[in-house]
Amino acid sequence: MTDSLNSRALAEEAERIIPGGVNSATRRIGAPWAWRSAHGATITDLDGRDYTDYHAAFGAILLGHVDERVNAAVTAAIRDIDLVGLGTTDLEVEAARLVTESIPSAEVVISTMSGSESVFQAIRLARGTTGRSYIVKFQGCFHGSYDAIARNVISTPETAWGMDSNSAGILPDALEHTLIAEFNDLASVEELFAQHPGEIAAVILEPVPHNVGALLPEQAFLEGLRELTRREGSLLIFDEVITGFRHALGGYQELCGVTPDLTTFGKAMGNGYPVAGLGGSAEIMHNFSSSGGQVMLAGTFNGNSTSMAAAVATIGVLKDPEVDFYGHVRRLGDRMRDGLRRITADHGIPAVITGIGSVFIAYFLEGEVRGYRDLLRNDDQAYATFHRRMIDKGSFMYPMALKRNHISLAHTEADIDRTLEQADEVLGGMARNGEFALLRGRV
Ligand SMILES: Cc1ncc(COP(=O)(O)O)c(C=O)c1O
Repeated sequence: MTDSLNSRALAEEAERIIPGGVNSATRRIGAPWAWRSAHGATITDLDGRDYTDYHAAFGAILLGHVDERVNAAVTAAIRDIDLVGLGTTDLEVEAARLVTESIPSAEVVISTMSGSESVFQAIRLARGTTGRSYIVKFQGCFHGSYDAIARNVISTPETAWGMDSNSAGILPDALEHTLIAEFNDLASVEELFAQHPGEIAAVILEPVPHNVGALLPEQAFLEGLRELTRREGSLLIFDEVITGFRHALGGYQELCGVTPDLTTFGKAMGNGYPVAGLGGSAEIMHNFSSSGGQVMLAGTFNGNSTSMAAAVATIGVLKDPEVDFYGHVRRLGDRMRDGLRRITADHGIPAVITGIGSVFIAYFLEGEVRGYRDLLRNDDQAYATFHRRMIDKGSFMYPMALKRNHISLAHTEADIDRTLEQADEVLGGMARNGEFALLRGRV
């Protein structure tokens, strides 16, 4: 890809006054360096080049970019009120009503400004409620930037399941109070409970770990976690920051029928506007200080009108039977997954094409994928090359291994078919050039 002057010049200016030139480290991907606009399923870089967007701002876009229904609701709301920061507003109550009606575990909810804040509140609430210290998380799951869970996401074979901190500056105590288990492996969780009897406050998981693509949960595993945490007096936390609203209005818990004690959500619920939240049983949620409990709840921007209006409008579209959001993205998702299966088979490329509804991913490996252990067999280099070349052709897929792709309401069959034609060219070329480790020596 040629760097053009406008994008590169702005990126250089950004690098001078913003660390790395970006406001979140994973935005630093090289070209394309800077962006001008985003409409529907298309994002346009500063040099005027269009891309069909499958990145979707790490999953924050569900309806397509700059959705007029959401923007109209936000504009109407801010004509009357921005942020008073006292008491409550109609919009906050309406948003809370929609969320509590949608998410099975969310009897009572709070609103926050990011998924990281929701996770942080959930963990503090779990500790405050149980009086216990330890948290169990799974290798490969990501839950944001909060100290307690900033470890063991995309780890190397040497660091997986061991101490793999995501950041300097975190107190060892914070990291060491988080224990790491293997996804879809109930025995690995039981072992941690056996090692720390009466000390584990909560088990937190992405019910579908999308931060390493799409590990599909086994029903017995989720049910086993529910039973185990109940028996041990720990809380079960579903982090539905990606799966929430995306896979069903009630999140993945609606689909699997397993109801956690607490649920975090965010990203897509505001279709690009900053809004997130945490829900749970009334008994647990009333431990927040706002309700006279002992667990601090504070946040200047929580429940602001812009975020609330965006959430109410987005959920309104998702609920509209005429729009049929879930049917639309499932049909296009199946079309993409079927197409990628056909293409990889045609070119003899070892691949596991998977995902659910709007999310799709092509792992380049042989055998089945159940947990993080299996992802260590992924051909990371081929994966990153595939995504990078898809960008060059005009389909934006995040150019790093294990990063998933998203389809929105604004995507069309024509978008999917064009992307599949591009994938056929890219993957065919890679197979012929011997760029898949598993094919080397076979061609
Ligand atoms: C599952 C999950 N939880 C929490 C977060 C953190 O959300 P935010 O980036 O809004 O702080 C993310 C972000 O990618 C996420 O994927």
